[in-house]
Amino acid sequence: MRDPSRVAILISGRGSNMRALVEDAKGYEVTLVAANKIEAAGLEWARSRGLQTWALESKGMAKEKFDRELSAAIDERGAGTIALAGFMRILSPWFVNEWRGRILNIHPSLLPKYRGLDTHARAIAAGDSVSGCSVHLVTEELDAGDLLGQAEVPIDPCDMPATLEQRVLAAEHALYPRVLSEFVQR
Ligand code: GRF
Repeated sequence: MRDPSRVAILISGRGSNMRALVEDAKGYEVTLVAANKIEAAGLEWARSRGLQTWALESKGMAKEKFDRELSAAIDERGAGTIALAGFMRILSPWFVNEWRGRILNIHPSLLPKYRGLDTHARAIAAGDSVSGCSVHLVTEELDAGDLLGQAEVPIDPCDMPATLEQRVLAAEHALYPRVLSEFVQR
């Protein structure tokens, strides 16, 4: 049974958004934190909070084989919603189709601007006065699914990519739990 209010969070690294989603959970329960890197730092924090974790090294593994194992682990925990939080791996068409309309992602730009990597450097280089973050549904096309919510962050004239990243990250931590909560309850 896939229960939309049971959420699996997918990470690859430090997992600060995962942490925000766990600490601010309203209307949903995090039933799994899964990683494609065995050493993802966020796993340790999740374990210390008594959360169920799953990790499998994706490097060198056929994409769909990994995704089928991941999907089975998510199903084992009865999750019906998947939140990508710094999951640095493109999901296979099989996985996207299997979970269509149930996968969310957070991206550090005001989509449709700056899909992909290096969003802060690109926003500064373009002379933008405002950046921000977006939560969107995941489709086969990178960072292109329906938008579920956005938060704006002003760019200061003296901003470097790292300083802008810090402020956008703080905005991500406020936005993601709120949007996920609205999503699971709709
Ligand atoms: C965040 O900037 C998020 O928007 C992007 O990857 C980064 C993950 O950071 N998708 P964290 O692991 O949540 O700290």
